[in-house]
This record gives sequence, structure tokens and C-alpha cells, in this order.
Amino acid sequence: MRFFPTWRLSLSHALLSMLLVAGTAVAADGTPNAASPVHPSSMQQRPGHAAIASANFLATNAGLEVLAHGGNAFDAAIAVASTLSVVEPESSGIGGGFMAVLHRAKDGHDVFIDAREAAPAAVDRKAYLNADGSPNRDTALKGPLSAGIPGEPAGLVLIAKRYGRLPLQQSLAPAIRIARDGFKPDSRLRNAIAEEQKDLQRWPASVAKYLPNGKSPVEGAIWRDPDQARTLELIAAHGDDGFYRGETANKLVTAVRAAGGNWTLADLASYKAKERTPIIVNYRGYRIVTAPPPSSGGVAIAEILNILAGFDLSKMDQVQRVHYIVEAMRRAFRDHNDYLGDPDFVKMPLDMLLSPFYADGLRQGILPDKATPSSMLPRAEAAEPGMHTTHFSIIDADGNMAAVTSTVNYTMGSTFVAEGTGVLLNDEMDDFALVPNKPNVYGLLGSAANAPEGGKRMLSSMSPSIVIGADRTAVIGSPGGSTIITQVLEGILHFIDGESAQQIAAHKRFHHQYMPDEVMVEQGTFDPVTSEALTKMGYTLKQRESWGFMNVVTWDRKTNKLDAASDPRRPSGLGKVQ
Ligand code: GLY
Repeated sequence: MRFFPTWRLSLSHALLSMLLVAGTAVAADGTPNAASPVHPSSMQQRPGHAAIASANFLATNAGLEVLAHGGNAFDAAIAVASTLSVVEPESSGIGGGFMAVLHRAKDGHDVFIDAREAAPAAVDRKAYLNADGSPNRDTALKGPLSAGIPGEPAGLVLIAKRYGRLPLQQSLAPAIRIARDGFKPDSRLRNAIAEEQKDLQRWPASVAKYLPNGKSPVEGAIWRDPDQARTLELIAAHGDDGFYRGETANKLVTAVRAAGGNWTLADLASYKAKERTPIIVNYRGYRIVTAPPPSSGGVAIAEILNILAGFDLSKMDQVQRVHYIVEAMRRAFRDHNDYLGDPDFVKMPLDMLLSPFYADGLRQGILPDKATPSSMLPRAEAAEPGMHTTHFSIIDADGNMAAVTSTVNYTMGSTFVAEGTGVLLNDEMDDFALVPNKPNVYGLLGSAANAPEGGKRMLSSMSPSIVIGADRTAVIGSPGGSTIITQVLEGILHFIDGESAQQIAAHKRFHHQYMPDEVMVEQGTFDPVTSEALTKMGYTLKQRESWGFMNVVTWDRKTNKLDAASDPRRPSGLGKVQ
């Protein structure tokens, strides 16, 4: 447990008494729930058809296949996630973890599935430091020490058991078939392998899997993954035991320890995927169901929307609108850096962070015509995040919904494949604050709340979200490291403004994360006049190349029309209505 900075304690105490009056509900796991009723319209209607948008057409088609066999959105989510593990391993997989928001139509139940990786019990912070105390980027990002205990297999098993309609074997069947029979890797996977070639070459099983002839697969070549097919079959047959105990667990631990890692069989056997209460925020008549800690995403999105609720963005020109949105982002990311971590380890002032009273206070500090320098907000550089992590969105014919963001962290995770398993391990340990207040690969800072400890889950930015309105609903999410939060926020705002799934996915984006104190901007987001006006207000604008890839499904209840859009920045994605 940690304590909050004293200057904020008095503020949180003052707010606490107001909150008690306001009566914010807090769930048993300590996660606040804004206690708003389930939107009745979400339970009264069914679309009668289904839609899926994911970053790879083979994964979208796997989900549609499972729906055609009688599965629901949750079975389809298992099919999409497991197929992505095979066809898009650079972004996510069974060696990584995911976070999902599910909405069950029959009773309006919203739940968050936490299948985030956890630190092994023997985690040693010193392993991530150079002799001079500076962060060692290699151990944090490459090889077995960079890998947390995977959460994705347990998360898929949990979803099948508690929410699916089909046996796990059936939902995993498309992924197993594709891994066995092979597929043609898209250009993004081929490029990712080429990019990471030097690190992949450090581990014999990674070479055998990704560089079979000494180089990355060539265009049009069929590529098979029999070891991963076998591991998926064991999960299909034995559930958790197929991965966390027995043959696969033994192979994982042997491979990790032989390469200098510290996993034990007990680390694997004790891993559990968890159901948590999602964060719910009401904004302009929409109920937004999003990710609680150990994601920072939902807290930040809620804080930003609560600040923005005091402005009428629809009446503002672009400069004014961007100004207020950026100022809200700045303040939410400051809190992200200071407070958030794994709720099973850290006491967080979530009541305060999610309170409209707190947002009111933050709003008062925003000048109408000037940027607030981040250095004036008490407290810490960023890298261009690479292409990694993946998100998919599903609505089925009954109105069940799944928003799933899945990751192995940075491109191709740790680059370490555990021999005989086909499992590419994540490099999620870098999402811990391995060195307090030193930026991680996304330039995010962290404090004691996100320090590594055995069994603890590292803070994530993953923000799978469902936006439920009286007439329209959206399932939304994106990869993008720290920019996940702001991309999803902008997607929510565009949806509420009436944009279509295609418009939302294609919309140009911008991002601010407190430090570095600059607005990262996609080319074409602002015209020269807007850029100049923002610069005059005190903003530093910096062009950023990598954005996306958002996958959005929308449901218009008035016309009962579903729409699915995959980010146009990603040609191999597919949004499809069935
Ligand atoms: N590994 C990126 C995230 O979880 O935010």
C-alpha cells in the first residue's frame, strides 16, 4: 500500500465529505461505480445480426465463423483473440494479456475482465537497472526477464466458462486450424519480424519460429505455427491446466529459466484472470462503460469527460475545443502518473479522481486563452510508441457486446519464444515503474503505486469501452501505448457528436500526456490557422507518425443498423457486418 502526497491529502479529505453526501457507490473490490442504472434500451432490443471489427481479416472471419455456429459475442471474442495470437503475434497473443469490457444483453450486466500479466514472485528491481542506477532498457524490454506471467489464456478460459455459449474447443478451433494449416503473413507482421530480427536472433526458439531460413517470411509464403497449435489444443482440452500446469507450464518455466529468467511453476499455477467492476461515467446522456485499474485508461477517460462536462464543446470552434480537451488530458495524465497501480496492491483515491467535484476544481484552473505549462501543475519525456497491441469490437445478434484490447506490449513483445510451446512472451514488465519517475517506453512516468512486486499487475493504458446511448451504442478501443487513452476518448467524443464507425476510425488524432509538455499531432489534424492559434496560446505541437489502429462497431437502434469499421491506417484490418 502507498500513501498520497500530503498536499493532495487535504484536498482528498475535503472531497471525501462531499462524496459521502453525493453517495458514490464503491464496489467490493474498491472500484467505484457511478451507480447509474443500466440503460433500459440496451435490454429491450436485439440487432438481429452481428458485427466484428478487428485488426486482421482472418481474425474477424474466425469470429464470424464461431457466431455462425451458434456462438455469442463472447465466444466470438475468444475466436478473434486466439486467431490474433497466430496471425498478429507482433501485437498480442497467448504469451501476453488482455483487458475486456463485456456487456450481456439479457440482463444488462457489464463486467471488466482483467487478464493482465503479473510479475513473477521473484521479481528483482535491480535486474532492470544498470550499474549507475539508470534504467536498463534491454532487460525491461527483451528476453525472459521482461515478461510477466501471461494472462490471456486464463482470460479466454474465464470468458468461455462464465459468458460463452459454446465449448472452448469450438471457439479456439479456427485459431488452431490456421496455426496448423498456415496462412500468409501480412506486410505488418513481415516488417515487424524484420525490425526485431536482431533481438529475435538471440533466442533459438524465436529463430526457429520467426526466422526459419535466417530471415523474415517473404510475401505470399505460407507460414505454419505447429507448436502454438499444440499449446492452443491443450488449452482447449484442459482449460487453465492446459497452460498454467502440466506440459506447457513445464516447458515455459524450463525455457525462461534456461535463458536467465526467474519464473516458477508456482507463478503460473497461481495466476488467475479476474472479473472487476468497470468504471461507468455518464456524459451528455451516454453511459460509458470502461476499464478500471490495473488500467489507467478508464480513470483518465472519466476524469477528462468529467472536466469536459462543464464546457459546451459543440458551440466552440476547433481551437477552443482542442484547447479544453488538451488541458483535460494534461490533468488526467498527471494523476495517472502519481496515483494508479494494481488495485489488489495499492490504495488509490478513485472516489476523488472520478468525482465531478474533483473535476470541477481542475476545470477552474484552466485559463480560457492559454495553455497551462505542465511544470505549473505539481510534477516529469516520451518516445514514439511502436506498432503493438490490438483491439477488436463485437456486437452479436442478441445485443451482447465485447470490447477487447490485447497485448504483448512492445512490437513482438520480449522477442523470446519459449521452446516447444510456440508462445512468444510479452515484455510487459516495462509497464511497471521500474525506476520511479523515469519514463517507460511510452514516456509514461510512474511512482510507488506502480512499482513492481511479486504477483502484482503492471499498470496499463488499455481502454476497451462501450458507449451506450438512448438511440446509438458503440463498442470501441485502440492500441497505441499511452495514446490509447486519448484515442479512445476522441473516438467517444466523435461518436457522441454523431459520427459513423468509419468516420470515428479514420478521424485525425492528437494527444497530450502531461509530460512531455507537447501536443502530439497526426499530420492533417489541424489546418495552418488552427496550428498557429494553438501555438500562440502556448502549445508546442509535434507531429507524430504512428496512430491507431482503432476498431469500432456501432449500433443505431432507430434503424437497427450495425456498422463495423477497421482503422484505414491498417489495410489488413476488417470490419464486417454479418
Ligand atoms: N502494454 C501497453 C499497455 O498495456 O498499456
